[in-house]
Amino acid sequence: MFSNGVAWLEGGRVKVSHQKKGIGRVQLKYAIDYAIKVGARVAQYDTSSRNFGSLSLAKFHGFKEKKRTEVLESDINDINPTEYDLSDIRKISNEEAKEIYKTMDIGPGDELNIGWSYIPLPNLEDKNSLWVTNSDAILQKIDIRSRALPEKPRENEVWIVVYGDPAATSQLISYTVDHELNKEEINIVAVYCQAEALTHIKELGFKNPSWNDDEEPIAVVLVEKDL
Ligand SMILES: CC(C)(COP(=O)(O)OP(=O)(O)OC[C@H]1O[C@@H](n2cnc3c(N)ncnc32)[C@H](O)[C@@H]1OP(=O)(O)O)[C@@H](O)C(=O)NCCC(=O)NCCS
Repeated sequence: MFSNGVAWLEGGRVKVSHQKKGIGRVQLKYAIDYAIKVGARVAQYDTSSRNFGSLSLAKFHGFKEKKRTEVLESDINDINPTEYDLSDIRKISNEEAKEIYKTMDIGPGDELNIGWSYIPLPNLEDKNSLWVTNSDAILQKIDIRSRALPEKPRENEVWIVVYGDPAATSQLISYTVDHELNKEEINIVAVYCQAEALTHIKELGFKNPSWNDDEEPIAVVLVEKDL
């Protein structure tokens, strides 16, 4: 449970051979009842927009979608960086990043996307991530050394989380690809962004992770229920 009274219901799993028999519902009800018992005021979890089992459990138990973050991906060699002004871009500390997020539109509530998860902004502590900003956007670079709970990138991947003006986010991504990635080690770059930035970021060469633009994009969905 986070210090703000939010119970984070992570990692529900049912053996494949026993799925679709009602076990997931009972399991989630148990977690909700336990959260109420220990004094949580809200329950949350996140899931992929393509995890239909998990989304249908959320609906059944009265969770509502609170926010979503779109996911795009590219092989590092297929990215075509756009132009940016180096003098506009600066690296900042974890603490400074927290202050800048407060000036950005991160959607309802204070949860911040950290790749395949969300974290309350005050809990954002990660000495191994890199943050960069220009005047209109902020970017977090997460790699295998970063503290991204509960999942993190594989050794050959980085995750880039951006908030802010779409054109400014695409400049920050371009700077990061040019200056902050070791191309000997990293092959895959995943970007987590707001829907408004999708067009700009696709222009850099990023695609839906399925590599098929006809399919629905993947998003990391945060669901919430008042207890
Ligand atoms: C998500 C999960 C826990 C659901 O468990 P479950 O025991 O199969 O769920 P239930 O039998 O209680 O089903 C609840 C609802 O989900 C639906 N559902 C379950 N799996 C589904 C699937 N793969 N696709 C579509 N709907 C699904 C059921 O049909 C039911 O809805 P309905 O009554 O409207 O038809 C299970 O599929 C699982 O372990 N998945 C892999 C791990 C995972 O993704 N966990 C969630 C992490 S966020």
